[in-house]
Amino acid sequence: MQGNIKGNQDEPGMIRNIYYDSDAGGVVILNQNLLPGQMEYEKMYNHQDLALAIKQLKIRGAPLIGVAAAFALALAVINYKGPRDQLENYYHEAERLLASSRPTAVNLCWAINKMRVVFEGKKHLNLNDLAEEMLSAAKNMFDEDVTINITIGELGQVLLPPDTQVLTICNAGSLATCGYGTALGVIRSAHKAGKIRQVWACETRPVLQGARLTVWELMQDKIPVTLITDSMAAHLMRLGRIGAVVVGADRIAANGDTANKIGTYSLAVLANYHGLPFYVAAPWSTIDMSIHTGLDIPIEERDAEEVRRLGGKYITVPEVKVFNPAFDVTPAALISGIITEKGIIYPPVEQGLQRQRSAAD
Ligand code: MRU
Repeated sequence: MQGNIKGNQDEPGMIRNIYYDSDAGGVVILNQNLLPGQMEYEKMYNHQDLALAIKQLKIRGAPLIGVAAAFALALAVINYKGPRDQLENYYHEAERLLASSRPTAVNLCWAINKMRVVFEGKKHLNLNDLAEEMLSAAKNMFDEDVTINITIGELGQVLLPPDTQVLTICNAGSLATCGYGTALGVIRSAHKAGKIRQVWACETRPVLQGARLTVWELMQDKIPVTLITDSMAAHLMRLGRIGAVVVGADRIAANGDTANKIGTYSLAVLANYHGLPFYVAAPWSTIDMSIHTGLDIPIEERDAEEVRRLGGKYITVPEVKVFNPAFDVTPAALISGIITEKGIIYPPVEQGLQRQRSAAD
């Protein structure tokens, strides 16, 4: 799969999320806010459009927003018409705008940093050539993400026994990445290996990524899925109908504490109480070795209206005060394994992460 073509949606797990349209000179994204009802693509004319689309969750999921930021920075250079000596200021301004669009997923800053290396290394080129280099770096990032996810899937599926019922939350699938998914990549590979009896998808209040996106994505691939509200997980575990929990991640601290969609921590506590394995699947770019524990992970707080309304309609007193953190942090002690493309990190995960990093250096 290549990031520069319009994707190959016919392949299972490869939903076309983002691509550069050379004819139109813009980046096209699938607006995830309209799923599952409408599959509508929107053209992003400049990096500001893309920053707003990330903020509004039209495009979402930690790995995908990183790649979207990379495309946005390429677009910033493609569109630049100002004096050459102002290019760097303009570029850094674009970086700042994108970095501020969503604070929790570290993949966003990781991608911005990767693109900065390209920019710095090639800024001596003429503008057209520099733009080409930036675009090709964004496309490579897209392609690499797909390869990483397939590796995560293959490594992770080994953890699931035959006839498993897996619980997941939010959407850590093809829609949250450039293809195949992380948590859903593990589930996809396990399904290919004939091991999945059933996936339980938490609806994921308030934005309903589970109900709107995970269910849709799995049904497209004919992977058996049943939707539950977030509060039903404990009951299902008690009934013995869940064998493992597999989730994605937005940022993993050096000690293994993991930020993911709000509600993930509750599932980890429940899994621990019921003696069930709780796995996190994420690319290495989600690991932030610069912060020691989850306490240092910035947690995005989103608009109160997301909680006050459901399907656009108020479900409460419109003036009520609301707390709406988009993510929570699961302590490393509750994690049975972190599945990355470099291998599975088992507890104690802090030491495992350190070892893996040293091996890579
Ligand atoms: O707010 P979202 O929809 O971007 O949150 C996404 C998640 O929490 C995912 O689980 C995470 O980004 C991993 S995606 C492979």
